[in-house]
Amino acid sequence: MSVKHDQMLGFDEHDELVRPAVEVVEFEETAKAMVSRRGFLTGGAAMGATAFVMGSTTLAAGKALAGEEMKMSRLAFEMVKANALDTVTVPKGYNWQVLASWGEPLFSNAPEFDPATGGTGESQELAFGDHNDGMALFSHNGRQILCVNNEYTNATTLHANRADGKPINADDVRKNKAAHGVSVVEIARKDGKWGIVKDSEFNRRITADTEMDITGPARGHDLMKTKADPKGVVAKGTWNNCGNGQTPWGTYLTCEENFNGYFSSSSADFALTPQMKRYGISHKDRGYNWALADDRFDLSKDPQEPNRFGYIVEIDPLNPKARPKKRTALGRFKHENAEVEVAANGHVVVYLGDDERGEFLYRFVSKNKYVVGGDNTDLLEEGTLYVAKFNENNTGHWIALTPESTGMSAPEIAIYTREAASKVGATTMDRPEWVASNPNKAEVYCSLTNNKNRGVKPNAGGDETPAVGPNPRVKNNYGQIVRWVPANQDHTAEKFTWDLFVLAGNPAVYDDAYAGSKNVNKDNMFNSPDGLKFDKKGMLWIQTDGNYSNEKDFAGQGNNQMLVGDPETGEIKRFLVGPKECEITGAAWSADRTTMFVSIQHPGEGGNSNWPNGGTPRSSVIAISRDDGQMIG
Ligand code: FEO
Ligand code: CA
Ligand code: CA
Ligand code: CA
Repeated sequence: MSVKHDQMLGFDEHDELVRPAVEVVEFEETAKAMVSRRGFLTGGAAMGATAFVMGSTTLAAGKALAGEEMKMSRLAFEMVKANALDTVTVPKGYNWQVLASWGEPLFSNAPEFDPATGGTGESQELAFGDHNDGMALFSHNGRQILCVNNEYTNATTLHANRADGKPINADDVRKNKAAHGVSVVEIARKDGKWGIVKDSEFNRRITADTEMDITGPARGHDLMKTKADPKGVVAKGTWNNCGNGQTPWGTYLTCEENFNGYFSSSSADFALTPQMKRYGISHKDRGYNWALADDRFDLSKDPQEPNRFGYIVEIDPLNPKARPKKRTALGRFKHENAEVEVAANGHVVVYLGDDERGEFLYRFVSKNKYVVGGDNTDLLEEGTLYVAKFNENNTGHWIALTPESTGMSAPEIAIYTREAASKVGATTMDRPEWVASNPNKAEVYCSLTNNKNRGVKPNAGGDETPAVGPNPRVKNNYGQIVRWVPANQDHTAEKFTWDLFVLAGNPAVYDDAYAGSKNVNKDNMFNSPDGLKFDKKGMLWIQTDGNYSNEKDFAGQGNNQMLVGDPETGEIKRFLVGPKECEITGAAWSADRTTMFVSIQHPGEGGNSNWPNGGTPRSSVIAISRDDGQMIG
């Protein structure tokens, strides 16, 4: 591929360009990380301390595949083979259709999608956003309302009428901002075909210009005050909404991830603060050009505007007039998703990953308790944020981020969360993506998607990244899934034990730790686990956002894909392969669970796909069903 457009770079690749971490002496590629695959497959007692950790941490997964249990697979579908086709492939007996695509009008007063121009500011504000990601379905009086994140945009298709795919005027900026945010749509199945219910009173677009209330410890703090909002209580918009969450009280959580890439400075002399640098904010944006038409994206004019982004936002999907609420108590970082559990003692627990190399894994515990049928609307306004510390001996604990533990005030902890977590010595992780909690028992999983800097250089805060514990491989290009069990099955407990559910790898290329754990083989291999979601049966759906070159280290792995894992046996089978240059992300089920909805994000991000309609590639949500109409998951 030729030189990529800024927006075509992975976010962390871009961050690396604008904010290169300081190179330090490379950690030695010790026997620790190069432990042989054989060693950890067999329990590895003879391989030394780290081999033992890897052996024991993958024991549950490794053990199960050896014996009769494979024959008793609970994953009752024929595995799909890896491929590099420009289509969606599902197992025999299943089918898929497009539910909604970028640019599809939500209202009948909006024009039909125009691939030649990518639409206008006005048309995009009335249409389904771009790059659909996390999602959740809400049932209400027999109607189904789907909330879908629109993470970011494909510049060359959104601005098909601009030579270099960049916004060049105010309407282009308006369109670009409107392609971001959240699409709330009523959906229905008519004559076997799923689609958007046009003009439903629930249909709503939330964009980078939608007003929302700032709640929690950062509300009204000096660091939140800007020219447009001198009180620091109302933020305009949400963007780069990646993963999501869903609360038992019926709200949608959307998670602001790479919010930094939208800010720039018109003045080369503008001095970036250390906190800006920690979050990857630089003089140059990622090509969105929003500052062209909106001064709040120009750091030299409104340097505090970035402090109002990087949060979890709570949305009431049934009330299109309700203002979204930014929940600053859940911290400011590059949020992936927000997995909500109600602990046995009634406190609400939210697990949160910060997706950047060497950043951390968090847990929020609400101050107040969930009351069935009660008013739970502001449970996420107040509580304690914790960060995870993993020990090599498969134990770990949560460290509370408080003024006492960090020396920072509560608002500062909410705004400069990464700094607070660094101060307490949290464990640097291999890019925590989605967290998923097992509905059948107290057990939580998190994708650590990959980290080429593991064992090579520290994170942006200077914290070292040794290849140990749940992040055991240097230059980790494949990723792994860690899981932990809270002490006493209590999600609010301080302590937990952990192991690795899977280490992704390529056993066709490597025969050491980079081959992956024993539940990875040449038939089911993949790289870069990202989306995670449990179904009602307790099976773990695993989605990938990885290297789809299908060559060298990734030979034989094909396009990005979705697999299903059995938490009890460790068995993993590939269920779906996406079209070219896409990622698979986000999942939800219809109320009767006969349909599963999945996001196909950025097909053809490098210009090499015509999915789904043979023309302009368009991010789309698909609906997957069984041919026999039975439940799926
Ligand atoms: Fe938007 Fe970390 O994925
Ligand atoms: Ca994505
Ligand atoms: Ca992701
Ligand atoms: Ca990812």
